[in-house]
Amino acid sequence: MLKTSCLNIPFANPLVLASGILGVTAASMHKIIRDGAGGVTVKSISKAPRTGHPNPTMMGNDTYFLNAVGLSNPGIENGIAELIQFKKICPAPLIGSIFAGTADEFAELAELIAVAPIDILELDLSCPNVGREFGEPFAYSASAIGRITRETKAKVKVPISIKLSPNAWNIAELAKMAEAAGADAITAVNTVSGMAIDVRARRPILHNKQGGVSGPALFPIALKCVYDIYEAVKIPIIGTGGVMTGEDALKMIMAGATLVGVGSAVYYRGADVFGKIVAEMTEIMKQENIGSLDEIRGVAHGIM
Ligand SMILES: Cc1cc2nc3c(=O)[nH]c(=O)nc-3n(C[C@H](O)[C@H](O)[C@H](O)COP(=O)(O)O)c2cc1C
Repeated sequence: MLKTSCLNIPFANPLVLASGILGVTAASMHKIIRDGAGGVTVKSISKAPRTGHPNPTMMGNDTYFLNAVGLSNPGIENGIAELIQFKKICPAPLIGSIFAGTADEFAELAELIAVAPIDILELDLSCPNVGREFGEPFAYSASAIGRITRETKAKVKVPISIKLSPNAWNIAELAKMAEAAGADAITAVNTVSGMAIDVRARRPILHNKQGGVSGPALFPIALKCVYDIYEAVKIPIIGTGGVMTGEDALKMIMAGATLVGVGSAVYYRGADVFGKIVAEMTEIMKQENIGSLDEIRGVAHGIM
């Protein structure tokens, strides 16, 4: 009932682990598949290893999760070893993820990671937490998105998905730009910029001061981004942001998503959240006589 396909790649269900949450090692990604996900995205990889920002880098409450991890990762060489190991132990679809400081470096890194057995390559153009090092995210600029997409596409055969930011007011236009430049899919969205202050300490909670908001508070923002992008492009969308339940996942699909990214829900509902969301989706689909996801994809458009 939940079987789906994206870019001709079969998925047992549409839920994919979002980048940055438990997705660093082959073993942790394999566990996520065993816990019920249809596919996994690796934590974004840079050319050199990065330690990320000093602690505190994360906090969460009932309504939102805030992080400024600072893109810590083991670097491309170690990262590729984990991707190869993952495919040895698990046949599920694997989404690679990279980030870089320039268009040339994105293309170079894409070529390097493409030797690994990844099914889709996500370009993280939208991390809000490394501005002091890299300047504002590329995902705010149509020309940067176009250039990085074109240069990367010229170097690799693996389908690429451009990960966009909910901070961009014209996200649908930017998605269209990515599509015109050759993107095969859009991942929407990354975290939205935010911060938290400790009243008693009288200072920001995160060492980095600002961070990215994910979790429940992001859901309606992400849903609208997916809805708007679906009206602007023909390529598939990986709808990500604040999905906590089966009902949320179905809303993403009704807005137009083909796959549904799930990240912070692991914090709210445990690592076995994927199996829980699958069970909830199945239950609602039975109640509503929905036979397949194709029947409801984008169904929320064009009504009224
Ligand atoms: C702790 C943490 C680390 C993240 N790291 C990355 C990353 O390395 N690359 C990336 O593209 N997105 C990263 N994200 C963003 C998520 O992939 C996702 O887009 C966002 O959290 C919204 O989904 P969610 O509400 O389901 O978590 C990170 C999010 C969190 C909470």
